[in-house]
Amino acid sequence: MSEHRFWGGTIRKLWPTESDKFRDHLLRLDKQTRRLRFAHSVSDAFIEDYASRMSDMGAIVYGYFIDGEMRAAAELRKIGDVWGHEAEAAFSVEGPHQQKGIGTELMGRVIRSARNRGVHLLFMSCLAENGKMLSVARKYDANLNFEYGEVIGEIIPENASYFSLFAEAVEDRMGYMMAVLDLQSRLSNAA
Ligand SMILES: CC(C)(COP(=O)(O)OP(=O)(O)OC[C@H]1O[C@@H](n2cnc3c(N)ncnc32)[C@H](O)[C@@H]1OP(=O)(O)O)[C@@H](O)C(=O)NCCC(=O)NCCS
Repeated sequence: MSEHRFWGGTIRKLWPTESDKFRDHLLRLDKQTRRLRFAHSVSDAFIEDYASRMSDMGAIVYGYFIDGEMRAAAELRKIGDVWGHEAEAAFSVEGPHQQKGIGTELMGRVIRSARNRGVHLLFMSCLAENGKMLSVARKYDANLNFEYGEVIGEIIPENASYFSLFAEAVEDRMGYMMAVLDLQSRLSNAA
């Protein structure tokens, strides 16, 4: 799975068996961040159910990890059963880690993953008041459509190239090693 080290943390894709890390991250979001992420207030039970369906939905989830704890997430979800021309993305960064460039970095990974899966139109929706999300989307030339307090952002990823495929594959191998090291460290701490 994908890995990149910066700001004392690493970015890698989650394995389907790591939905608990995704759940714990989402549960830690403060009230306002949680509202911005889901465009309305949601309960802990909603989040638990949402995270548990991560692998069933075939989503690709990138996590930003510090000391084995997931502090940010970027989700790429297909629309329908298989990867088609359109997909959806969503982002969440825990409060103390916002405005450090993590959301921007994660969006780059998601766009590349979409590109490598033949996605031609990537959607993301957020509240119109969400200045940070809009600022990140603009960095990737998103077309922003404002309507009734919400914004639908549309990004057109380039076609996949040898380089984009190779870069994702190399990061996935590094990420696998990071996931194994993380597991070993948790097992030895528990022993
Ligand atoms: C939106 C979010 C994912 C961005 O992640 P992040 O790591 O904070 O973003 P970055 O640090 O990469 O970039 C934030 C940018 O917003 C800018 N910004 C901050 N406050 C802003 C505001 N009120 N209006 C406009 N831009 C703003 C920052 O200056 C920064 O731009 P810069 O890099 O050019 O300086 C994160 O803030 C978050 O999780 N928010 C709550 C959940 C959410 O809104 N999700 C989106 C809906 S799916």
